[in-house]
Amino acid sequence: MKVIGVVGSPRKNGNTAYLLEEVMKFLRGKYETEIIFLKDYDIKPCEGCHYCEENKRCVIEDDMQELYPKLKKADVIILSSPSFMGGVTSRLRAFMERTWFLRKGQLEGKIGTYIVVGRRKIGSTIDEIEEYLTRLKMTKIPGVIGYAFEKGDILKDKEALKEAQKLGKWILKLSEKLEGV
Ligand SMILES: Cc1cc2nc3c(=O)[nH]c(=O)nc-3n(C[C@H](O)[C@H](O)[C@H](O)COP(=O)(O)O)c2cc1C
Repeated sequence: MKVIGVVGSPRKNGNTAYLLEEVMKFLRGKYETEIIFLKDYDIKPCEGCHYCEENKRCVIEDDMQELYPKLKKADVIILSSPSFMGGVTSRLRAFMERTWFLRKGQLEGKIGTYIVVGRRKIGSTIDEIEEYLTRLKMTKIPGVIGYAFEKGDILKDKEALKEAQKLGKWILKLSEKLEGV
């Protein structure tokens, strides 16, 4: 089993990454895990050229090409983002757009969930990720929301920390069941 966490925050040691790490702690050692900080990748937005409709691949030759095989190989995908202006960050948005050609079932059945952090008003951030997971035909499980502003504030959101640990345990259980099928 392989679990990947995709982080849309520009802060590698920010609140979102902290919560994701809380989840990953339960899975590391048992499963192959990888955290992908989108900040480290050059990912351009979709140009809407429709090349992928015929060719089943994206024509833009940037770092997204490295990520497609990782997505296809993963069994669990955790999309993680702070709320920026009530939605996901532009980094995560570009990543999501660029997977448009994978919506026809290529990621079907993979477990998908989210980690969202906001100061207070997260707007449509969770909805955007849930809608994405639906379109990609992934099996959605409820994720975690944390409330924090400055780096490290997430430590004060005890409920979010607990929820992250629960999510980790849940993924572990689900994966064990799937492996047993
Ligand atoms: C550009 C920008 C926009 C933001 N917009 C929102 C918002 O709409 N709603 C909200 O609750 N918090 C908003 N925040 C606060 C962040 O979501 C918050 O600081 C979060 O903890 C950052 O997570 P990180 O440490 O993982 O980057 C915004 C922060 C920035 C920098």
